[in-house]
Amino acid sequence: GAPVEVDIAGLQPGEMRTVEWRGKPVWILKRSPEMVESLKKTDNLVADPNSERNPTELTPEYARNQYRSRKPDILVAVGICSHLGCSPTTKLQSGPQPSLPDDWAGGFLCPCHGSTFDLAGRVFKNVPAPDNLQVPPYMFEGDTKLVIG
Ligand code: FES
Repeated sequence: GAPVEVDIAGLQPGEMRTVEWRGKPVWILKRSPEMVESLKKTDNLVADPNSERNPTELTPEYARNQYRSRKPDILVAVGICSHLGCSPTTKLQSGPQPSLPDDWAGGFLCPCHGSTFDLAGRVFKNVPAPDNLQVPPYMFEGDTKLVIG
């Protein structure tokens, strides 16, 4: 398929947009400074903090870091659960919410079997999903044009 170009100039901190790439939903989240900071807190709660599992499939080399991204504030990830393929719900707000830990720092919740992911798409420990969310191939052209694929 052809690469998908997205203008992210208008994306505000804390805002997420979904685009379609090869028939899959791809999330583009502009993380606020607090959201970026939250990844330090989740680092020891997630199963594969440095994206070492299945890296060829799941995490391009430039995203094998705490942010799982080229730029700390921009997350680009395929919005499909690594368990059985449901689409996780965005739970970007931190703090207590139904069916989430009290110290929830923001992230994603899969409605099918309750797997949770942090704001870098890293899977939490002890949930059914085995892996982090896939980071698709992407690059930036200039500051505001994102090219996926
Ligand atoms: Fe997401 Fe099972 S498909 S937890």
